[in-house]
Amino acid sequence: MQPISGYGVGKVLDSENPEFNKGDLVWGMTGWEEYSLITAPHLFKIQHTDVPLSYYTGILGMPGMTAYVGFYEVCSPKQGECVFISAASGAVGQLVGQFAKLLGCYVVGSAGSKDKNEITKLIYCYQESS
Ligand SMILES: NC(=O)c1ccc[n+]([C@@H]2O[C@H](COP(=O)([O-])OP(=O)(O)OC[C@H]3O[C@@H](n4cnc5c(N)ncnc54)[C@H](OP(=O)(O)O)[C@@H]3O)[C@@H](O)[C@H]2O)c1
Repeated sequence: MQPISGYGVGKVLDSENPEFNKGDLVWGMTGWEEYSLITAPHLFKIQHTDVPLSYYTGILGMPGMTAYVGFYEVCSPKQGECVFISAASGAVGQLVGQFAKLLGCYVVGSAGSKDKNEITKLIYCYQESS
């Protein structure tokens, strides 16, 4: 049986790769396990530790990059435009909704259940009041 793989945060305990040293904090593809042996690293070094490390699995990791590039660089949105977000409660959608609100867009999101809609509303409203 193999552990589930996914994006995570870790600390290098030992390394034969010259790009990574013992003690480095990294984020990237790893296993959902306490210790991982990573032979083909798709890892990025964490430079800023003044934020919770879990941010590197969200806003500062792949979902954040996807949301940022997809919204700002591909969509090139303008203030006041209407933005529709499907899968609005998902890892990417919840960030795009917040980016769009910060920019002053009119945001409409959809999600697959009442619970997901409620969570999405809380996330977007939190952004609005903070
Ligand atoms: N997360 C990343 O780092 C990342 C990176 C690159 C690309 N992407 C892409 O960005 C998109 C969103 O990623 P995510 O991580 O935010 O996903 P997610 O959190 O796993 O959300 C996926 C959501 O898509 C909706 N969905 C699934 N099948 C669907 C269908 N057949 N029709 C309509 N909606 C459907 C469901 O939302 P509801 O139940 O609410 O409808 C599901 O919860 C995906 O296409 C993903 O491949 C993500």
